[in-house]
Amino acid sequence: MEILRIKGGNQISGDVQISGSKNAALPQFAAALLSAEETILENVPDLSDIRFMGEILTHLGAEVSKLGPNTWKIYPANVQPNAPYELVRKMRASICLLGPLVARIKKAKVPMPGGCVIGHRPIDLHLLALRQMGAEISLNQGIVEVDGSGLQAVDIFIGGRHGSTVTGTANALMAAVLTPGVTTLDGAACEPEIVDLCTMLIKMGARIDGAGSHLLKIEGVEKLNGCTHRVIPDRIEAATYIMSAAITRGKIRVKGITPGHLGAFAKVMHESGVILSSNEEDSMDVHTRADGLSPFEVVTLPYPGFPTDLQAQACALACTVPGLSILTERVYPSRFMHIPELLRMGAEVSLEGANAIVRGGKPLNGAPVMASDLRASAALILAGLAAEGETWVHRIYHLDRGYESFDNKLRNLGAEVERLPETALPPTFRSPTD
Ligand code: EPU
Repeated sequence: MEILRIKGGNQISGDVQISGSKNAALPQFAAALLSAEETILENVPDLSDIRFMGEILTHLGAEVSKLGPNTWKIYPANVQPNAPYELVRKMRASICLLGPLVARIKKAKVPMPGGCVIGHRPIDLHLLALRQMGAEISLNQGIVEVDGSGLQAVDIFIGGRHGSTVTGTANALMAAVLTPGVTTLDGAACEPEIVDLCTMLIKMGARIDGAGSHLLKIEGVEKLNGCTHRVIPDRIEAATYIMSAAITRGKIRVKGITPGHLGAFAKVMHESGVILSSNEEDSMDVHTRADGLSPFEVVTLPYPGFPTDLQAQACALACTVPGLSILTERVYPSRFMHIPELLRMGAEVSLEGANAIVRGGKPLNGAPVMASDLRASAALILAGLAAEGETWVHRIYHLDRGYESFDNKLRNLGAEVERLPETALPPTFRSPTD
C-alpha cells in the first residue's frame, strides 16, 4: 500500500495540463464494442479504471492495445457476452457494457455492480430502459443476464428520483443505435460526457438527435463502423486543480480544458472570490481575491448543476473560508465520507441530513487520514495542502482510479507531496486494516 505525504502551507503556482475525462472515456471503451471494426481513442487518461476496462474488453474477446500513453486501439471483431466478476466488481462503470453487448450480439451477462461507499447506486433505470425496449432480463447468482433478441424502438422516460442517470442514459443510447426504428429517451442525461459519447457514436455512423438536451432521438442503423475519437478534457480534474489553487490562495493556469463545461462550478467560485479568467479557448487563469474568500452555498444536481463529483473538494475549500458555508447533496445524499476525516484535521463541519454545514476559517492541522473513495481522496489532499504540518493520506489507490499523476502534477505546481510505501510511516500511524 502507498500513501501520500503532504506538507501543507505552500501556495501553488504555475501551469497544469488537464487529462482526458475518465467518465467520458469509460463508456467510449464500451461503445467500441458496437462495431466489428477498429476504434482508436485518443486523449484517454492513464488511470487504473481505464486499465480495468481494457482488461474487461480483452476478456470479452476484443483485441485491445495501447498505442501510446494516452491512445488505445480496440479491435472487437469477435465478442462474447460474459463479463468477468473479478474485474467488473472493481468498477461500477462496467455496467455500461450491457447496452453495447445487447445491441451487437443480442446477449449480455454482466455481474451486478457491488456496493459503493458514496451511497446507494441502483441500476433499475438501466434495466427499465432495456426492458421497455423488449429485452428479457433475469438475475442469476448475481449476474444480470439480458436477452436482446427482441429489441425494438420505443419511447422511454429514463429519468429517476434523483434526476437523470448518466451511465443509464449511455446504456439505453448504445442499445438503441443498432435497434431498428426511432427510440426516444426523455429525461436523458445531458452531461458533456454523454454529448461526447453521442459525438463518437455519430462518427461511427449512428443517427442521434438532441445530444446535450434531455430528449434524445435515436434512429437505429444496421451496423456501425469503427472511428478515431479524441476524449474531451476532464472537467472534474480541471475544477479540482482550480480548488487546489483556491485552497492555497495560489495562482495557476489550467490548460487543455473546455471552460464552457464548468458553468455552475465557476459561478460558485466567482461568488466566493476565486477569479477565473479564460484568455485562450482552452485555458483558464486562477487566483483569489486579495481581501480573501467568502463562504458559499452549493447544491449538487445533474448537469448543468454543480457536480456531485466536486462536492467533497468544495467542502475542503469551505473549511478554509471564514464563515458559514452549506453544501447540499441532491445526487448521492450520503456522499459525505470525507467529513469525519476533515474533522480529524480540525475542521468544523456538521451533517444535517444531506446538508454539510461548514464553519470555516479555523486553521487545519495535518493528520493521518483515510481516503474512502476517489473524490474524497482529492478533498483530503486539498485539505492537506492548506493544513499546518504533515498530512498522510491512506488508501490512495482510490485516487489513482480517477486522477492521472495527481501527485506529480501538484509537485510541478510547487506543492510538497510525496508518494511513499506505508512502511515509511511510524508503526503507530499505519492503517490497521491495510
Ligand atoms: N440512479 C437510480 N437508478 C439507476 C441509476 C441511477 O436511482 O438505475 C440514481 C443514483 O442513485 C443517483 C442518481 O440516479 O442518485 C444519478 O446517478 P447516475 O446513474 O447518473 O450515476 P452513474 O452514471 O452511476 C456517473 C459517474 C459518477 C458521478 C455520477 C453523477 C461515471 C462512470 N460515473 O455515475 O462519477 O458521480 O454519474 O454525476 O460516469 C466519479 O467520477 O467519482 C463518479 C462517482
